[in-house]
Amino acid sequence: MGNEPALAGCVVEALLNNETYFFRDRNPFDLLVAQVLPALVAKRNTARRISIWSAGCSTGQEAYSLAMLFASDPVRWRGWTIDILATDVSSSVIDRARAGVYTQFEVQRGLGVKEMLNWFSEADDGWKISESLRRNVRFQVHNILEIAPPPGQFDIVLCRNVLLYLSLERRRQAFDRLAAAMAPDGSLMLGAGETVIGQTDRLAADRDRRGLYQLSVPVPSASRVSLGA
Ligand SMILES: C[S@@+](CC[C@H](N)C(=O)[O-])C[C@H]1O[C@@H](n2cnc3c(N)ncnc32)[C@H](O)[C@@H]1O
Repeated sequence: MGNEPALAGCVVEALLNNETYFFRDRNPFDLLVAQVLPALVAKRNTARRISIWSAGCSTGQEAYSLAMLFASDPVRWRGWTIDILATDVSSSVIDRARAGVYTQFEVQRGLGVKEMLNWFSEADDGWKISESLRRNVRFQVHNILEIAPPPGQFDIVLCRNVLLYLSLERRRQAFDRLAAAMAPDGSLMLGAGETVIGQTDRLAADRDRRGLYQLSVPVPSASRVSLGA
């Protein structure tokens, strides 16, 4: 009887799909470098701080890919604080992400040989991510559906390939959580083939940039059409 919560946890862990790899689907990372980050730099030039949340980070490749983007351009980011929080409901993947040790197969997925040698060193148990990158990502166990993240804080939220297995009701709940965690001018990135359309009215698709979502602009009450008035 006393082992039921632990057993339930094991069953949930076994059902989770943890598929991920470095720079998955590449396009979102190119979009960040070419458009999203330059726009943020202009807006955050005084505070010089950018906060990013990788929600449903699995074994950490998404978050470390982000850290690589910043570390690849040290001159550009000198004097800036880049806070990368990476969370997942599964404690086993968070342990692996924190350890930052990957198999040869995992490091080769998404990374060229040059990047692999640049960011990893060979260890007895696999390829270990450089300490400088590891220090730049905070990993935490967190269930998007259970605990509300700190409000209004994140400039960029990535929640890619996480919500697609949830019911519409659960997805709506998750989108509300993600929206509440975003800065007013923040951006959400979903996976290829995912969308907010028809699932929440708190977020709207960016007209020009596929895969990018912003908070919906609330309609001022004075300009709302009142039915039956
Ligand atoms: C397919 S992986 C995606 C990893 C990464 N975002 C990517 O696109 O490569 C989905 C991850 O979402 C996590 N996940 C599922 N439901 C979650 C929830 N309610 N809260 C937090 N993480 C969740 C799973 O544990 C899994 O590691």
